[in-house]
This record gives sequence, C-alpha cells and structure tokens, in this order.
Amino acid sequence: MAAVETSPASYYDGAAMGSEMSVIRQAKLGDARAIGRIEVETWRSTYAGMLPDRVLLGMSEQRQTASWAGFLRHRSGDVYVAEAEGGKLLGFGNCGPQRDPAFGFGGEVYTLYVSTDAQGAGLGRHLLLALFARLLHCGHRSAMIWVVRANPARFFYERLGGKLALHRPIPLGGQAVDAAGYGWSDLRAVIEREARSRAGF
Ligand SMILES: CC(C)(COP(=O)(O)OP(=O)(O)OC[C@H]1O[C@@H](n2cnc3c(N)ncnc32)[C@H](O)[C@@H]1OP(=O)(O)O)[C@@H](O)C(=O)NCCC(=O)NCCS
Repeated sequence: MAAVETSPASYYDGAAMGSEMSVIRQAKLGDARAIGRIEVETWRSTYAGMLPDRVLLGMSEQRQTASWAGFLRHRSGDVYVAEAEGGKLLGFGNCGPQRDPAFGFGGEVYTLYVSTDAQGAGLGRHLLLALFARLLHCGHRSAMIWVVRANPARFFYERLGGKLALHRPIPLGGQAVDAAGYGWSDLRAVIEREARSRAGF
C-alpha cells in the first residue's frame, strides 16, 4: 500500500486539483474584497426564501469586505480560499475554537461558501478538509458546523461524514433561524479517509 500524506498542517496548503487546477491556500489580507463579494453573492443565492429579502438586499460588499479585513488582520491563518488559475477566488471558509464549548466539539467551521458557478466541482470538499487540517494543527481533534435547517448544504456535510448532533435557532442576518449542528468527532480520521479515497485505495 502506498504511503498517504496525512500531515494536517501541510496537507492542503497549496494543493492543486481538478481540471482547472484550482488551489486551496491560506488567505491574505488582500483577499478580503473577493471574499466579501463571494459572501454577498452566495448569501443571496443560498438564503433566498430562508432569510427576509430586506436582509439579503441590504447586504453590502463593502461592509463584508471591511469585516473580513478585520478578521484577516488578526487571524488570516484561520481562513482558507480556493483560487482558480489566473487568481480569481472561487470560495472560502474560516474556522477556530468552538464558540459554545458546551457542545463538546473542540473546533468549529464558522463559514464555508463556494461561488454559485463553481459549486459541485469538489472545492467545498477541499476547503472543508483544509479547515479540518487547520483545526487539527491548532490542537482541535473534533469540530462542528451550523447549517440553516432548510439549506440543502446539510447533505454535503452528511456526505463528508458529519453526524447530525442537534437542532437549535442560531442568529443569522440579525434574526434567529432554525439550524442543524453537524459534528465530526475525529478530524484526523476524516482527513486520512479522504486522502486514501483521493489516492484510490
Ligand atoms: C455547500 C457547498 C460548500 C459545497 O461545496 P461544493 O463545492 O458545491 O461541493 P463538492 O463539489 O465539494 O461536493 C462534495 C460532495 O458532496 C456532494 N454534495 C455537494 N452539495 C450537495 C448537496 N446540496 N446535496 C447533496 N450532496 C451534495 C457532492 O455531490 C459531492 O459528492 P461526491 O463525494 O459523491 O463527489 C457549496 O455548494 C456552497 O457554497 N453552497 C452554497 C452556500 C452554502 O450553503 N454554504 C454552507 C453554509 S453552512
């Protein structure tokens, strides 16, 4: 059996994949504008009918850019982006310690968004694994993520081995929205399993 590279710190940084050779890498301060643009675009397409129109229409790329610039200034290591050949960003996600330790998972994936025209090509999977690798590197062996209950993205998390842990309202766009919490109790095992499947054994 061939050896599998499972070093969590380095496994995904700079990894290229897909016919268009997208790259998953840690974000830089200069990515804030592209991240803000993708966030507004994907919120509007994903949450139409789930969040009030006034919330979605009221979003501003400028405000989101400023907010991401603030996060990146302090924690750029916790943000990963998918970058197409030529430099266009196609998706992003961020992570860190679980915001409510009562749930028993060490880490949390706070956001994960892939541009609508780039969805379904494997970028979400690679971004999620990069965030898991980052969490492991920071000492978190388990993680969870909140997803709006009506969002079909929860099937993506199930596909990636997430187990439905609980339901509860979360604040989103300034209001409480019914959400599902998915958990992974062993991030290293997820990364190893995906690495083996990528290597074809
Ligand atoms: C959810 C999201 C991050 C997934 O990323 P993606 O790049 O589209 O997904 P991938 O191509 O990596 O899919 C990985 C696997 O999950 C499956 N999958 C992806 N989305 C799915 C869905 N909505 N329902 C069922 N399966 C899904 C894919 O078919 C693929 O399966 P495979 O292992 O058989 O190949 C992306 O679609 C997205 O940003 N959606 C809109 C925003 C959103 O809802 N974000 C999550 C907020 S919590």
